Amino acid sequence: MIRSVVTGWGDYLPKRVMTNGDLAKLVDTTDEWIIARTGIRERRIAGDDERTSDLALKAAEAALSKAGRKAVDIDLIVMATTTPDETFPATATAIQHRLGMTRGAAFDVQAVCSGFIYALAVGDNFIRCGQAGRVLVIGADTMSRLLDWSDRGTCVLFGDGAGAIVLEAAQGQGNVTDRGVLSTHLYSDGRRHDALYVDGGPGSTRTTGFLRMLGREVFRHAVTNISQAIEDAVAANGLEASDIDWFVPHQANQRILDGTAERVGIDPSRVVSTVARHGNTSAASVPLALCEAANDGRIQKGQLVLLEAMGGGFTWGSALIRW
Ligand code: ACO
Repeated sequence: MIRSVVTGWGDYLPKRVMTNGDLAKLVDTTDEWIIARTGIRERRIAGDDERTSDLALKAAEAALSKAGRKAVDIDLIVMATTTPDETFPATATAIQHRLGMTRGAAFDVQAVCSGFIYALAVGDNFIRCGQAGRVLVIGADTMSRLLDWSDRGTCVLFGDGAGAIVLEAAQGQGNVTDRGVLSTHLYSDGRRHDALYVDGGPGSTRTTGFLRMLGREVFRHAVTNISQAIEDAVAANGLEASDIDWFVPHQANQRILDGTAERVGIDPSRVVSTVARHGNTSAASVPLALCEAANDGRIQKGQLVLLEAMGGGFTWGSALIRW
């Protein structure tokens, strides 16, 4: 059985740090409120001259370097983003060009905060079907560009960043001892559109629009949906939650992370959390957290790593990987 093994990973955060104190100068909020409700202390904001592709390129280059690969070795780029440089073409093609890759294919995937899980699932399926041997999967967003900086209910939550991994085909036995992606599970429910959306777009207002959210509604669904995605992943592989070595969740809110881990029975010491320093970086949040835990030596070769995310749509999903 063909498996998609993670052979490289890389990330990038813009230099500018925006603290809760900085936000308190813009809107009626406090450091204490933001920390108590979300766990977020600071986030990174892209410079005026930095596009999503600039962040993504740096993460992609780092991932290729870690994998010991050149752009010419890659068959496919799948990029998750909600904040493309332009309405079209796909930002993935800008990355393809700037990496110097002149063959293969590149396209974007849009599933908001779940984007990286969706892009990973697409990349894994291309490899398992034999249509690609090496795939660069990127999650990158500049959510700061979609924020209404006068809305304290949303502008305190998000940040900018990028993360990437390289997936490579390898032969496995077809059981859970294989290295690589063991399963992906994707879900969506379009009935919840109004809980989290952007009030503009080329096909409606011809503007970019601003992010709108019913925070409580999202929160309520987040723990339930994410827990379901985790339980499905674990059950599909004949495992228990206690078998998971590292849980790398979408970094939306520390209370969602804690609530989910408790509900599915994952020990808090096994949860990778970067939300305090990154905020919610949408499609970048899972690969940013993954890179941090892989770089600091927490995630070791052969360990079981469970990724999950939920976002606008609603969309949500999980991926179980043996590192
Ligand atoms: N500072 C101070 N007060 C605030 C702020 C702020 N930044 N934002 C809202 N408030 C006020 C509200 O106006 C409200 O005041 P009122 O009672 O006078 O009307 C009060 O705080 C409570 O507001 P709620 O929205 O009910 O507060 P809640 O405890 O639900 O926390 C939050 C809000 C943090 C947004 C929470 O609902 C949440 O995290 N939801 C999930 C949202 C999320 O993560 N979205 C990301 C995309 S989806 C995903 O990634 C999973």
